[in-house]
Amino acid sequence: MNHDKVEKNIGVMIVLIIVAISFGTLVELVPLLFSSQVNEPISGLEPLPALELEGRDIYIREGCNTCHSQMIRPLRAETERYGHYSVAGEFVYDHPFLWGSKRTGPDLARVGGRYSDAWHRAHLYNPRDVVPESNMPAFPWLFENELDGKSTGAKMAALRAVGVPYSDEDIAAAAEAVAGRKEIDAVVAYLQQLGTLLKARR
Ligand code: HEC
Repeated sequence: MNHDKVEKNIGVMIVLIIVAISFGTLVELVPLLFSSQVNEPISGLEPLPALELEGRDIYIREGCNTCHSQMIRPLRAETERYGHYSVAGEFVYDHPFLWGSKRTGPDLARVGGRYSDAWHRAHLYNPRDVVPESNMPAFPWLFENELDGKSTGAKMAALRAVGVPYSDEDIAAAAEAVAGRKEIDAVVAYLQQLGTLLKARR
């Protein structure tokens, strides 16, 4: 029987397994590439303003995303704790995605508006001042480092090249919008908008 031959010939078996898995992958992936549900921004989604965009870059530089995910799964335990589960349309302007999977700290996908700016500043200056048992590192240098905005416009232009709809005016005004602000202002501004769009619609 043919089946016997395939099972006893490892070379043929490997090739057929690769074909089967590749086919399965295509069937799963290709329709998604054309699905508006994953390609289209949810209503109200705007590209990050200059200061928040810089905040996002500092968030990546400091490795916040190695301890914090930004992806709430559609499971009761997660939605009870963090709020509405994440949807693809929230992330269409995110390059790169910061979903993550390791949660040393809590998920931050909807942390926007949960605490005051003052709380975030105190927490980032020294987490133990507000959460005594915290093992999150302190980031005091964010309060000293100043942004000069020299590359903010170029970052926006690069994002525009991959489909984020920044306008010429956004890019022209970028440097002025961030120059002279402290890094902490940028990080807090970034945190405070995270996930707020869907929360507001609930
Ligand atoms: C080594 C892991 C680690 C890193 C790196 C880290 N955090 Fe945390 N973070 C934690 C832990 C653990 C907690 C929970 C305790 C607490 O609230 O301090 C936390 C809590 C938080 C909270 C409160 C979330 C909530 O819902 O209560 C925010 C906001 C936050 N971190 C932001 C940041 C930002 C911004 C950075 C980068 C500048 C960062 N974290 C880097 C581990 C980390």
